[in-house]
Amino acid sequence: MKIAIGSDHAGYPLKEKIKEFLSREGYEVLDFGTHTKDSTHYPLYAKHVAKAVLEGKAHRGILVCGTGIGMSITANKFPGIRAALCTNEYMARMSRLHNDANILCLGERVLGTELALSIVKVWLETPFEGGRHEKRVELITEIEHETCGKDIPR
Ligand code: RB5
Repeated sequence: MKIAIGSDHAGYPLKEKIKEFLSREGYEVLDFGTHTKDSTHYPLYAKHVAKAVLEGKAHRGILVCGTGIGMSITANKFPGIRAALCTNEYMARMSRLHNDANILCLGERVLGTELALSIVKVWLETPFEGGRHEKRVELITEIEHETCGKDIPR
């Protein structure tokens, strides 16, 4: 599975640790930056990762900033993206089972490294449950059509 990853300066150290973890676990990683601790702007990286997922260049995306909030707000502006800000494994599991989340957002200033890596593992290994949740995700897509009037990839 190919994973697009991005962070701002506040998420950079955790992004690097997640990259190492993903490579160890056998995932292919597309790193959209940032590549230093210099101050930068989280929407730039959220945009690259969201586009990579929507264009099928990556199966899923992971975004890290200080809180994960800015990344999730930005990524969710893209129709077809279901970005989930998760602070524990339960949220990570449910965001996959019920919401079919295609981007995981994490806050480096909120999480310890071990918890963050554990969240990533659960999130990547949990499938979408489908069933009654399929209809609910379809309703999100319908809202995207209503508000954006575009073809939305699923
Ligand atoms: C950067 O200081 C911080 O605002 C950013 O990483 C993020 O937490 C925004 O939501």
